Amino acid sequence: MLDIGRQRDALEPGLTAAVTAVLDHGRFVNGPEVQELEAALSAYAGVAHTVACANGTDALQILLRAVGVGPGDVVFVPSLTYVATAEAVALIGAEPVFVDVDLATANMDAGSLAEAIAMVKAAGGKPGAVMAVDLFSLPADYAALGAVCAQHGLPFLIDAAQSFGTTLDGKRAGSFADAAGTSFYPSKSLGGYGDGGAMFTADPGIAERARIIANHGVSEGRHTMVGTNSRLDSMQAAILLRKLAIFDDELVRRRSIAARYAAGMAGKVTLPAPPEGSDPCWAYYVVRSEARDALAEHLAARDVPSVAYYKEPIHRQPAFAGARTAPGGLPNTEVYADTLLCLPSHPYMTDDEVAQVIDAVQGFSG
Ligand SMILES: Cc1ncc(COP(=O)(O)O)c(C=O)c1O
Repeated sequence: MLDIGRQRDALEPGLTAAVTAVLDHGRFVNGPEVQELEAALSAYAGVAHTVACANGTDALQILLRAVGVGPGDVVFVPSLTYVATAEAVALIGAEPVFVDVDLATANMDAGSLAEAIAMVKAAGGKPGAVMAVDLFSLPADYAALGAVCAQHGLPFLIDAAQSFGTTLDGKRAGSFADAAGTSFYPSKSLGGYGDGGAMFTADPGIAERARIIANHGVSEGRHTMVGTNSRLDSMQAAILLRKLAIFDDELVRRRSIAARYAAGMAGKVTLPAPPEGSDPCWAYYVVRSEARDALAEHLAARDVPSVAYYKEPIHRQPAFAGARTAPGGLPNTEVYADTLLCLPSHPYMTDDEVAQVIDAVQGFSG
């Protein structure tokens, strides 16, 4: 699904020199590379403030705390996402309530969100925030979801772990809503050589609180609140800076592969449907098929890897047993769980490898 070796070749020269520079200066934590990366990420995403942190899960929980969510509050999240979206809520003592997704985009459905908020309010609960996800690199419906949040006075956060590089109407993922968190896990569009994450916001207050929480609650030399240790290593920042330098070239290639997939697989599987005005980063290329498991077997027999993510969405996982869901249930989430299949989509695929994936899908008769 990924070829880290080929990417490494593209990163040299420069990668080893960047790592060696950190070994030489020895400021492994909070070194100059971290500030440099934060500035570069702010410029790239088009946001005023970037706070680097240890991983994407931390980014989400720190942002929740930074917008004032605490124990007992309800946070509305999709169930069709990586478990970390809901985990971040539970880890700060809040309650995740699961919302359905739109059938076309796999992203949070504004109607289901409105119903879930009404349900929680009617039961005397305290809504604290909404956390939508840019699932599979497609931007969430920021306008519709943002309108629901505004109507209820709720902070609107985005889990942008899967969408760094995606644009909507010319603006980059990370620059929408009140704040967004992303992940630099190796398989992400901007992946490091280990764990890492970042928080993006236009709001100086959110940025300041996030920075304090991520660094043991330290403000002006004192521990003003109970924080945590969520710092990005200088070494990781150096690697990410090098990766950011070739990121746009990688995006061009990812997008051309996605265009070839769409042209070559149309009619055979249900293709991803990016919202009007969006240009996804295609860190994931997810199709749907009623015969998903047979398709995956057919592909594997032809040396084409694939992954059926979220076969058991979060609300069906033992760790979240008994969690509340939107009143209409999560029918579209279930459709995706039964039919989605993620195909290889990385910028170092050769044209022959792309053709091999398309031919294998075309040759499926299930
Ligand atoms: C949607 C989503 N949210 C959150 C995360 C968590 O990121 P991390 O693994 O860096 O903690 C991931 C990826 O792992 C993800 O895909």
